[in-house]
Amino acid sequence: MKPKVVLTGQTWPIPYAKLQEHCDVRQWTGPGPIPREQLLEWLEDAEGLLSVGHSIKVDEELLSAAPKLRVIAQSGVGYDNIDVAACTKKGIPFGNTPGVLVEATADLTFGILLSAMRRIHEGWDLVRANQWREVMGTDLYGKTLGIYGMGDIGTAVAKRAKASGMQIIYHNRTRKQDDDQLGAKYVSFDGLLEEADCIVVLVPLSAQSKGMFGKQQFDRMKNTAYFVNASRGQVVQTDALYDALKQNKIAYAALDVTDPEPLPGDHPLLALPNILVTPHIGSATYETRNSMAMLAVDNLLAGLAEKPLPACVNSSVNYI
Ligand code: DGY
Repeated sequence: MKPKVVLTGQTWPIPYAKLQEHCDVRQWTGPGPIPREQLLEWLEDAEGLLSVGHSIKVDEELLSAAPKLRVIAQSGVGYDNIDVAACTKKGIPFGNTPGVLVEATADLTFGILLSAMRRIHEGWDLVRANQWREVMGTDLYGKTLGIYGMGDIGTAVAKRAKASGMQIIYHNRTRKQDDDQLGAKYVSFDGLLEEADCIVVLVPLSAQSKGMFGKQQFDRMKNTAYFVNASRGQVVQTDALYDALKQNKIAYAALDVTDPEPLPGDHPLLALPNILVTPHIGSATYETRNSMAMLAVDNLLAGLAEKPLPACVNSSVNYI
C-alpha cells in the first residue's frame, strides 16, 4: 500500500509523476488556496504533507489533526508559515527548497532594482499609451547598494550589482567570512540605512525582522534612496513605506512582496508614482519552479522512507 499524502496545490508534471508513483496523492486543485477545514480533514489519515508555496499554516492545531504525519515538505525557501519547533516536538522533519531558487530570485531582485532606477516599466507604459518620450532614470554605476540579509540570494544579487559597477555594503546578524572575496563591506544596520543609495531587503521573516522597516528607518535613509523588498511583505511597515514615498523621504520602491499580499487593486500604494510592484515572482521561472517541486518531492519521499531529507530545516529530527 502506498502512503497517503496531501498535496496543497498544482505542481509540475515530472515531480508529480514521481510523487504519484510512490504515494496515494490527494491534491487540492482550487479554486484558491485549500480551505483549512479541508486540509485538516484530509490530514486525518495522511503520512506526508507537500505544501506548494506558503499559503497554509502549519501549527500545533494542524499537527494534532494529523496523527499519522511523518514528514512535511514545502516548495519554497521561506518557512515563516511553518511552526518548525512544533514539528520538531512531534519528531516530524520539515524540508524546504534552498539553493535551487537562488539565481532566479537574484535575477528578479536585481531586475526590479534596475527597472526602478532606469524607469524601464514607466517607459514601456508610455510607449504602449502612444506617448513616446524619454523618461529619465538614475545611474547604477558608482552607486552604493546596501543588502540587508546577505545569504545565498544576497550574494548572488551582489555579484550582479558588481557587474554594473556598484559598491556593496551589507548587514547581517553575523559578518560573512568571505566578504573580502565578494568585495562587500560589512556595516551596522544604521550604517546601511544612512550610506546606501539603494537598499535591498532579503532577510527571512521572523519575530526579529517583522516590521523592521518603519518610519525611523525610512527617515534615516537618503531622500534619493531606492528601496527593494524581495523577502516577505511583513518585514516592512506598509503605512510607513507609503508615507516615506508620498513625502519623498525616499525616492522609489520596488516590491516583489507586500503586506497585505496580494495587494488589493485599490491599495493606496498603487496610486503612487514612485513605486513598482510585482506579484511575488522571485522564483517564478519554469526551470526553477520545476527544480523546487522536484526537491520538495525528494524531501517528502525521503521522509516517508525514513531516510535523510536532502534539505531539512530541523536537522535534529532528520533521519540520519
Ligand atoms: C520562497 O521560496 O520562499 C519564495 O518567496 C516563494 O514563496
